[in-house]
Amino acid sequence: MVAQRFRTASEKEVERDWREFTGGGPVVGILRQYEASDVQGLIWDDESSGHRGLVSWWVDGERAEIVSVHAEPTGGAIGTRLMDAAEDELRRCGVMKVVLATTNDNVRALNFYLKRGYRLVRVHLDAMDAVRRVKPAVPEIGRDGIPLRDMWEVEKDLLRRVA
Ligand SMILES: CC(C)(COP(=O)(O)OP(=O)(O)OC[C@H]1O[C@@H](n2cnc3c(N)ncnc32)[C@H](O)[C@@H]1OP(=O)(O)O)[C@@H](O)C(=O)NCCC(=O)NCCS
Repeated sequence: MVAQRFRTASEKEVERDWREFTGGGPVVGILRQYEASDVQGLIWDDESSGHRGLVSWWVDGERAEIVSVHAEPTGGAIGTRLMDAAEDELRRCGVMKVVLATTNDNVRALNFYLKRGYRLVRVHLDAMDAVRRVKPAVPEIGRDGIPLRDMWEVEKDLLRRVA
């Protein structure tokens, strides 16, 4: 039963996820900087296949930020399930607009968000300089050899139904 594969993530699980997949907290977002203790999270865990993923978010009244999302393996629809579940939860909390940031080397993630109703609303030029002041280990070169410099901000209106 699909619903049973979702569970709430504990702070420690969020911390571990960030450590393994983003080099650890804090996460520098659009609305603020986040520690694992600031966010809520949801885990997709399918023990039989070993497929797993985690999405985390922070709510500020009628707006929210998706702080992280990762799926293993990629391309298996776990990311889609996690985003749908997080958005359902945000709607239940009265959130109308959700934002998220992705780095300028993560073209596949941008593709993923744009296909799921998000719109590119801002490019934060040289935002990675500020991220490196908080996390000096962030590399100069990112995925596919792309210089890691900027942040893309995408946004979704949760009240708007998209086809
Ligand atoms: C981005 C991510 C969460 C998407 O989850 P997913 O389970 O791979 O995505 P789904 O299988 O639900 O959807 C596949 C879509 O995601 C896109 N995608 C993004 N990154 C991908 C990857 N590394 N491998 C395969 N597909 C990827 C594909 O374009 C694909 O498009 P489609 O809708 O035409 O098939 C996941 O790929 C991931 O964890 N990537 C690494 C971490 C990351 O970049 N997180 C986002 C940080 S902002």
